[in-house]
Amino acid sequence: MNRLYPLFLLFCGIAAAQPSEYKQWASFDGKASGEVPRVYANPAAMKGLRGGSYTDGAAIVWDLSAAKDASKRRIDWMVREGGKWEFARAVDGKVTIKPPDEAAAKCAACHAGEKARGGVFNVLPDWNREAATRYLDARAKQWSEWSVAKAKGGSCVSCHTTLLYLLARPEGPYAAQFRSGLQTRLDDSEQKQTDGASVEAVLAALVLGSDQAKARMWTKQIKEGTARGSFPWYSLDLDPWESSKSAYWGAALAAVAAKGESAPLTEYLRREMPGQPLHHRLLLLWAGTLNPDEANRLREEAWSKQADDGSWTVDALGPWKKEGTNATAFATAYTAFALQRGAADCADPRMGRALDWLRRNQNAETGSWSSTSMNKSFPADSMQIGFMDDAATGFAFLALSSKSCADR
Ligand code: HEC
Ligand code: HEC
Repeated sequence: MNRLYPLFLLFCGIAAAQPSEYKQWASFDGKASGEVPRVYANPAAMKGLRGGSYTDGAAIVWDLSAAKDASKRRIDWMVREGGKWEFARAVDGKVTIKPPDEAAAKCAACHAGEKARGGVFNVLPDWNREAATRYLDARAKQWSEWSVAKAKGGSCVSCHTTLLYLLARPEGPYAAQFRSGLQTRLDDSEQKQTDGASVEAVLAALVLGSDQAKARMWTKQIKEGTARGSFPWYSLDLDPWESSKSAYWGAALAAVAAKGESAPLTEYLRREMPGQPLHHRLLLLWAGTLNPDEANRLREEAWSKQADDGSWTVDALGPWKKEGTNATAFATAYTAFALQRGAADCADPRMGRALDWLRRNQNAETGSWSSTSMNKSFPADSMQIGFMDDAATGFAFLALSSKSCADR
């Protein structure tokens, strides 16, 4: 009984002037037809809703308080206590049904009929890790066989496909081959002075992490002028990583690899921060170049752009050369990942909502998360049409695999 007590207090109006606690929990639309209730579940209940079991303290609120039809407005809830569910209802802020009322026993009787699911009618899909793994491995295989990506010692490392593969599947069947290609080119005594060589040096420092790779990266660093501290980068008018502003994102990646080693790099990131797309600045959380106040502000800026359903549109992370691209899966996965690497609180319900959005939006057939190019439309049977899916899937895989954040 005592676990119901805080909820009773809430509904008795004591907390009416503040946001009610349950509204901070993970939530989703209920199954009912007609007016759709919002269902809220605390972390213990979320475990059960995803197919686990319900432990004492699990609580689920079924909220129709905003129904258009006033006669339907109510809040029903159930709390797990002593190995069984206790049921209650509130109408207009007043508790109308509570244990041991006969009406509460009727709620329990009907819910008990849903035995296989522990007395709960709604279920939430979990994500399909095997299907996502199959997708990533299949794309890595295609990349390794793609003639366009051929490079000395193997295939080139791309931001969209290979980098994400190496981060998400470092032990995957193609990872060693991509790393050894990078190593072959590091060992090559003949060095090119191209943007591509600089980009690769940064990516190699990030994924190989060796002193040799970092030393190579520093040889590419720009020593003077307004870009001092940063690295030559592709500018091919391709958002989000190869456009005129992408050098900032590249420098932030370098800072992740450098772990604070270069003062000119940190200064560059600080100096050029104003006006950078949120997408680029988010990497500073991972790089650790901000002081605690700045990091806090950046995290709050990211949360403030989150949609009610837990997602981020890619426009919310802009500005970009083109608006309105549907790359929501990519933007959501990337932002959740960056916030996780940037020490966001995993208990924050906003993280829960982001991860639940990802769980609900995996393509059941392909195992991937779909996003559209921010630049152009590629032919349906091309390798290129999958690049943003590769990135979205890699980041979603990483965000949903986070032990601390996804196990809640
Ligand atoms: C050298 C190995 C490599 C190959 C091969 C490669 N990429 Fe890309 N690439 C992009 C972005 C961003 C796009 C745009 C994707 C989109 O529009 O969906 C792109 C698009 C492409 C396209 C389509 C270009 C067009 O204009 O039609 C090809 C082909 C491609 N990449 C191949 C970021 C990168 C980055 C990040 C710095 C690296 C490294 C990178 N790419 C490395 C590589
Ligand atoms: C005749 C069967 C029945 C009775 C009686 C009943 N429920 Fe339910 N309940 C359902 C069904 C079916 C759903 C799922 C539909 C939906 O989400 O809109 C549900 C959903 C819920 C949920 C969300 C969790 C879940 O199981 O999906 C809560 C909380 C809940 N009911 C509480 C109550 C309370 C409190 C009472 C009594 C005041 C009650 N229910 C009476 C059938 C019943």
